[in-house]
Amino acid sequence: MNFDVHSLPSPCYIVDEALLIKNLEKLKSVIDQTGCKILLAQKGFSMFSVYPLIGKYLDGVTSSSLWEARLGKEEMGKEVHTYSPAFSETDFDEILEVSDHIVFNSFHQLRKFKDKVQGYPKKVEIGIRINPEYSEVETAIYDPCALGSRLGVRLANFEPDQLDDIDGLHFHTMCEQNSDVLERTVKVVDEKFGKYLKGMKWLNFGGGHHITRQDYDIDKLVQSIIYMRDKYDLEIYLEPGEAIALNTGYLVATVLDIVESQIPAAILDTSAACHMPDVLEMPYRPGIINAGNPNEKSYTYRLGGPTCLAGDIIGDYSFDEPLKAGDKLVFTDMAHYTMVKNNTFNGVNLPAIVLNTVDEGVKVVKEFGYEDFRNRLS
Ligand SMILES: Cc1ncc(COP(=O)(O)O)c(C=O)c1O
Repeated sequence: MNFDVHSLPSPCYIVDEALLIKNLEKLKSVIDQTGCKILLAQKGFSMFSVYPLIGKYLDGVTSSSLWEARLGKEEMGKEVHTYSPAFSETDFDEILEVSDHIVFNSFHQLRKFKDKVQGYPKKVEIGIRINPEYSEVETAIYDPCALGSRLGVRLANFEPDQLDDIDGLHFHTMCEQNSDVLERTVKVVDEKFGKYLKGMKWLNFGGGHHITRQDYDIDKLVQSIIYMRDKYDLEIYLEPGEAIALNTGYLVATVLDIVESQIPAAILDTSAACHMPDVLEMPYRPGIINAGNPNEKSYTYRLGGPTCLAGDIIGDYSFDEPLKAGDKLVFTDMAHYTMVKNNTFNGVNLPAIVLNTVDEGVKVVKEFGYEDFRNRLS
């Protein structure tokens, strides 16, 4: 890290522009090799101050709601795709205004809204999300193909008589996976839904592709894209979220106090519940620079947040020196699924957002305060 964490607000997320560019270049190489289109899945990373940069490499955004769609349209201004498990009448007209593709989760929703889409002055493409009933995701809450899943139309429920109204199909079945999983998934999609892909314009491979991870096999991804592209004469879309911001950001926090317990506890000014909810939901253990597993180094602490939730625990970590109030801790890989999910439970402030720019070094992009907390309440 080429910046001084002591000079920054605490807590804060820091995104490193050079690392982001490195990821974007890798993603662009897939676009260049295949002619596919890659969209930023905003649910994973919505730091819109870097949308102009992302838009130089990628083709647009995918959105889970009207507000994400609007944000993508306003801040990147390229293609906007929108998918939701169900659209509401209230939002639909505005969604139509800002979207280029709308993907429906069911044929009921297609029938409900298709006249609006087809009667709209601008061409908006229509897709259906399919559920190929094949996935290799082990954590149930992240498995879109789990038994009883509400996500996507299964082959048994597909309505071929509606094909004339559909421009493309969409599947999303992966989570943090390599391209061997995609290769096997594409095979199943082809076997089950290939007959419906003839005559379509596009196929969206969803997200969950860990393309920017060191061991990711890009050649295999390229082969899967080219295979479906050529077999059915399709435009292929990918919509990763995590892969765009993977390993590009940090969360800097400060130790507030040390509390004696069976395992000494360090209370931080950052919270798992508020600022990194995936640590509790997924669950997973974030990395910390210069820290080890429990007892690996001389001093082990249980790191916890300043909220009243007993389980607001980030994990147990060891350090070379005893921790004390005022020490800074730097959590790694904190750009994706953090800012987009954080909250002000207990009135805990939101971390500031900082960009470490290539040309001008560190810039505080945004700081939050009492008004942000108050405005969500009444
Ligand atoms: C429909 C859809 N597309 C894209 C994504 C992005 O996935 P990831 O951030 O794992 O690449 C998700 C994540 O849940 C999703 O549900």
